[in-house]
Amino acid sequence: MSTLKPLQLTLAILKPDIVAQPHIVRQIKNVILRHGFYFVRSKLLTLTRAKAEEFYKEHDGKFFHNRLVSFMSSGPISVHILARENAIAEWRKLMGPTKVLRTIYENPECIRGQFGLTDTRNSTHGSDSPEKAKCEINFFFSEFDIQVWEINEAPLFSNRKVEFDPVKGVHIFVDPK
Ligand code: RTP
Ligand code: MG
Repeated sequence: MSTLKPLQLTLAILKPDIVAQPHIVRQIKNVILRHGFYFVRSKLLTLTRAKAEEFYKEHDGKFFHNRLVSFMSSGPISVHILARENAIAEWRKLMGPTKVLRTIYENPECIRGQFGLTDTRNSTHGSDSPEKAKCEINFFFSEFDIQVWEINEAPLFSNRKVEFDPVKGVHIFVDPK
């Protein structure tokens, strides 16, 4: 009987405050790898203000909305589809609580506790539910078909037939010799 647990996908973003510091990008990617995540797809891009507004439409009208979309369209972001068992909750646990100014005291070892600058410039984003993960993956990777991935690629990840390629910044399939 197989003991393999199903892999779940989530969307992770390294926000502009992090991408501006390449050595911190490297540190965070290493933390992600050490915690057993797979990099399924990766992209570096800059959001227009209109696209940032669309991505954060759930926060429209909140006091921080304007500063959030200004920040998120202020420079390049590094966007990743991550796979792991329980990826959504595990990535949010690794990021830590949203509010950096409290987190740096209460949870200093998490990513936001170590690298966050303010409650807005808080280093990273992670999907908060399976429905949002699907929607957010589609927002950034419209060419990526989750169902096709689950059939064709997920079994190779589950059986560890992949290795991380530091140049491509994603896991690639190991050649079966
Ligand atoms: P995220 O969506 O970025 O993964 O973060 P989250 O679920 O932990 O937090 P959420 O409530 O969805 O807020 C989205 C982003 O808005 C900014 N924010 N600023 N100044 C503030 O009080 C405040 N509150 C939220 C943060 O960048 C947060 O990640
Ligand atoms: Mg959120």
